[in-house]
Amino acid sequence: MADLDRDVDRQDEVPLVGDGVTQGIVRVGDTVRRPVRPFTMTIQAYLAHLRAAGFEGAPIPLGLDDRGREMLSFVPGDVPREPLPPDTAGEEVLVELARLIRRLHDAAQGWTPPADATWGGIPGTQGASSTPDDEPLVVGHRDYCPGNVVFRDGLPAALIDFDLAKPTTRVYDIANAVYYWAPLMHPKDRSPAFADLDIPHRVAVFADAYGMNASRRHALIPLATTMIHRFHVNMRAAAEMDPVFKRFWDEGAKDRLPRAETWIHDEGPAITARLTAGL
Ligand SMILES: Nc1ncnc2c1ncn2[C@@H]1O[C@H](COP(=O)(O)OP(=O)(O)OP(=O)(O)O)[C@@H](O)[C@H]1O
Ligand SMILES: [Mg+2]
Repeated sequence: MADLDRDVDRQDEVPLVGDGVTQGIVRVGDTVRRPVRPFTMTIQAYLAHLRAAGFEGAPIPLGLDDRGREMLSFVPGDVPREPLPPDTAGEEVLVELARLIRRLHDAAQGWTPPADATWGGIPGTQGASSTPDDEPLVVGHRDYCPGNVVFRDGLPAALIDFDLAKPTTRVYDIANAVYYWAPLMHPKDRSPAFADLDIPHRVAVFADAYGMNASRRHALIPLATTMIHRFHVNMRAAAEMDPVFKRFWDEGAKDRLPRAETWIHDEGPAITARLTAGL
C-alpha cells in the first residue's frame, strides 16, 4: 500500500522548468518541491516573515517534504518566457511591479535574519559585497528576471524563486528590477516588444510608482552601472566553474553583458536627468 501511494505521488509530479539553473523543481498539486540548498531554511524563514507582515506576493513556505525537498505553495498565474509577450512591455506592468517590490521591501524592513543565516549566489560569488551605498540593509529578492515574476490578469502579482535573496539596499534591488524591466540593456538584446521604448521615461515611471526619494533617484543609475559590470565579471567567473553558466555565457551573455555596460555608460546620464528632473 505504501509503495502504491509513492507511485501515485510520483505520477502527480509535474516538472517545472524556468531559466534552467535549478534542476529537479516539480509541482505536486498546490505545492512546489525544490532541492534543498544551504540557504533553503534561511529563505523559508524570510518567506514566513513576509507572510506574517502581510505580504502575499511570494510563495508560502511549507518546510520540507518526506523526501527532504523544500516545499512551497504553488503561486497561480503566468510566468512570461522569452521572447516576452508584447503586453508585458506596457507601462502598467512597470507600475504594478514597482508597487509589488515596494510592498516587499516594506514587509522585509522589519526582519533581522538569524545569526546563522546562509545566502545563495551565482557560483563563485558567495560572500561578495553587493551593497556599495550606505543605505540601511533590507533582504531583497535580487533576481527580478521575467521567469521569476508571476502575472495575473496581465499584471505582475507575485514573485517566485528567492534563491538569490539576501541583505541588500532598496535602491540596489530596484536597479536589478529596472535592469530586466525598463530594461537597461542594449536594444538588440531586448525582447522585440521592448526594443523601441523610451527607457528614461520608463525608469521614471517605475521610480514614481515605487515612491523613490531624491537620494535614491540620484543613486540608481550609478549603482545599476556597477551592478551590470558585476554581472559581467561574475558571469564570466561562474562560466568557468559551472556548466549551466558556461552555456549562458557561450549562448550570448559574453556579448550581451559588455554591450549592456557600454549602453548604460552612454545612456545613463539621460536616465538620471529624467529621474531627477524637478527635484
Ligand atoms: N512557487 C511557485 N509557484 C508557481 N510556479 C513556480 C513556483 N516555483 C517555480 N515555479 C515555476 O517553475 C519555474 C522554475 O522555477 P524557478 O524560477 O524557481 O527555478 P529556475 O528558473 O530554474 O531557477 P533560476 O531562476 O535560478 O534559473 C518558474 O519559472 C515557474 O514557472
Ligand atoms: Mg527562476
